[in-house]
Amino acid sequence: MPVTIGVLKETTAGETRVAIVPEVINKFIDLGAQLLIETGAGEEARIPDALYEGAEFSPNPQGILSRCDILLKVQPPTPEEIAALRPEAIVIGFMQAYKQQQMARELCAKKITSFAMELVPRISRAQSMDALSSQAAVAGYKAVLIAANTLDKFVPMLTTAAGTIRPSQFLVIGAGVAGLQAIATAKRLGAIVEGFDVRSATREQVESLGARFVDTGISAEGEGGYARELTAEEQTGQQAVLDEHIAKADVVITTAAVPGRPAPRIINLAAVEGMKPGAVIVDLAAESGGNCELTQPGETITHKDIRIIGPVNLPAELARHASEMYARNLLNFIQPAISDGMLTIDWEDEVFTGAVLTRDGEIAHEQTRDAIAKGESS
Ligand code: NAI
Repeated sequence: MPVTIGVLKETTAGETRVAIVPEVINKFIDLGAQLLIETGAGEEARIPDALYEGAEFSPNPQGILSRCDILLKVQPPTPEEIAALRPEAIVIGFMQAYKQQQMARELCAKKITSFAMELVPRISRAQSMDALSSQAAVAGYKAVLIAANTLDKFVPMLTTAAGTIRPSQFLVIGAGVAGLQAIATAKRLGAIVEGFDVRSATREQVESLGARFVDTGISAEGEGGYARELTAEEQTGQQAVLDEHIAKADVVITTAAVPGRPAPRIINLAAVEGMKPGAVIVDLAAESGGNCELTQPGETITHKDIRIIGPVNLPAELARHASEMYARNLLNFIQPAISDGMLTIDWEDEVFTGAVLTRDGEIAHEQTRDAIAKGESS
């Protein structure tokens, strides 16, 4: 029997993305796989079933789960989905195991092999599978559009018969994947853009996009190309320089994150109060605690004429292209394991060993296993 790949309609509130798009169907078919998709799976991303040529559709998610060898997901599998899967099935998606500890236990109890797309190693060979990057790029782009739409100003400079309008000033804090995309998007809209990050390697990247790098003199390179947490002294130094730039900005977009830690607090109440009336903060770290002290996830707070927007799941607001990029990431991830319709995972491959979350009834990912063990004992 050829390997059967199942895809369901996502059921998490607000999730509009889908794990498969018509553009990848033929690639899976060329690998000899069969596709079994829930009726209306792409509806929220405005992808009608008819576009998925070559796939089989079923209105019955339980039936799909009982037949598929691989389940492709955007959000973590629900308890009902796990219960209906066959034990030898494989689940691939954003698993968020730190938050979804019960899910990880249920996957183990059923001896289901699961891969977390957020754990795919960030090595050159795996760039085409890097779903964190593809979705962060969507978020960075969308954050700028939200800010532009909220501002009561033009973004670009305008020379008109009614006089010259000065361009808006954007400051992007955190120049990783989302931040760099935000910088590029704000530049394209005609803003004057500044960028800042604690990793010194980002200076060149920020400048290559035509933005000015804010130099706080801090260099906080951590492990694996990520940033480390700042010391209290470094934080104070950073604050003094950054606050001046925050005060000048019409828009501040924050994207700063440190792996495994709450989002660093970069904009405090005083900095917000030092901003110009009408200024806008879009805090992409809202879901992990916020880079701004006033951020509330999923809400827009107005404090003394400053709007602080804390969007959640921004990629879902650009569902068509976010799904397209994510579906390609999934295809590129699993493709090496499928040949002539047969599934064989190479357990020597660091991409699979890096991304595996559960296998043989155990949590295979060390940090997640430790986090869950600590969670149980507390
Ligand atoms: P992230 O989402 O973890 O963090 C966003 C940014 O916040 C990072 O640039 C980080 O340096 C910055 N940051 C942390 N604390 C800060 C603070 N206090 N103030 C200001 N900025 C702060 O990072 P992301 O976007 O996921 O990627 C970061 C790293 O991963 C980079 O080194 C990048 O080159 C690398 N990467 C590698 C890839 C590959 O080789 N396949 C693909 C994508 C990213």
